[in-house]
Amino acid sequence: MTIVVFLGAPGSGKGTQAKKLSEELSIKHFSTGDMLRHHLKKGTPLGVKANAFIERGTLVPDEVMIELIENSLGQLSSGAKVILDGFPRTVPQSEALDAKPSTAPSSVIYFKMPESVLIERLTGRRTCQNCGESFHLEFIPPKKTGICDKCNGPLVQRKDDMEDVIKKRLEIFYSQNSLLLNFYKNSRRLVEIDAHQPVESLNTEIKRYFG
Ligand code: AP5
Repeated sequence: MTIVVFLGAPGSGKGTQAKKLSEELSIKHFSTGDMLRHHLKKGTPLGVKANAFIERGTLVPDEVMIELIENSLGQLSSGAKVILDGFPRTVPQSEALDAKPSTAPSSVIYFKMPESVLIERLTGRRTCQNCGESFHLEFIPPKKTGICDKCNGPLVQRKDDMEDVIKKRLEIFYSQNSLLLNFYKNSRRLVEIDAHQPVESLNTEIKRYFG
């Protein structure tokens, strides 16, 4: 299995790029945020448990997330190529991936982004309630206001995209980030990219790391 991790602050564009690359290159895309929201929509015990953390902008406990990702990766064939978006977020999560040679990431792409841009990216985000596609009121507007271009579903604002929750998410991200960056820097797997650029040019830059 070949695993590439997308690391970056909330709103740095990981999900937008991961979805695009997964379609263009036929690579699996595992977004732990999307997985948790899917569980919540279905009303599973995991979804209900996770929602309490998500709404506060805090992290779901490591053991829950590690089990979720191990189960998902365990269903793939040994030759699969995967983008992990939103996992790992803590050193114990990164250690869990490295514990098996088959799930150790081959590279980790860090989406570097000025903090000042993140809040406007997140407050302006609108997400399709049906298919999860992301738009931005100003930067990536849908063709019809409030309607998803892909499936015509309604666009809504994520509860955790309210400004007070965003601040908490950013605070938690920055508290973990340097530890994670050092973890991957020390094992020479970290690639830092300037994520503050248009979707298409960023896409071209990231594609270089997918051979
Ligand atoms: P999750 O859904 O993973 O949220 P996140 O990491 O905070 O990331 P986001 O989805 O907010 O941002 P993104 O980088 O994908 O940006 P996007 O591409 O959408 O997690 C949610 C919650 O789940 C967590 O808070 C936590 O509680 C829990 N959780 C998940 N994983 C966990 C884990 N491993 N451990 C513990 N808890 C976990 O872009 C943002 C906006 O900008 C969009 O509007 C987009 O249209 C726009 N945009 C994108 N690219 C560009 C561009 N180049 N130019 C202009 N605008 C752009």
